[in-house]
Amino acid sequence: MELTINGQQYTVADEPARPLLYVLRDELGLTGTKFGCGAGICGACTVHVNGVATRSCQTMLAAVAGAQITTIEGLADGERLHPVQQAFLELQTPQCGWCMSGQMMTAAALLAENPNPTREEMIAAMRYNYCRCGAYARIARAVMRAAE
Ligand code: FES
Repeated sequence: MELTINGQQYTVADEPARPLLYVLRDELGLTGTKFGCGAGICGACTVHVNGVATRSCQTMLAAVAGAQITTIEGLADGERLHPVQQAFLELQTPQCGWCMSGQMMTAAALLAENPNPTREEMIAAMRYNYCRCGAYARIARAVMRAAE
């Protein structure tokens, strides 16, 4: 099975019912995408599929054959960080950091669709990405900074 991830072609085992998250982490070594709940609840595993924020733990390979998949490893433009990454870095947003790639992927998808969200729109878009450290205020500041 062929997958396109961060602009590169990968050949992976032909297991259509296998979750994308496991292939990214265990087969391809793209470990920036995190396993949190494994049940589609926490958002730690968020990637982009054709630009849409998608929970990779709940996305089977069959659903992404032929799609453009982007992980946190592919969010920057070469050496240039994505504005969301830059803002999270500048504001020292992470605490433990586990949820952060999912937070940034959700934020990047939001800003691609709505470059100037209101705070309410941002919170609505980010509300299902959980942070066990409770760094929500810093996450919110960083997403709004990235939108400036
Ligand atoms: Fe996929 Fe929690 S690990 S939503």
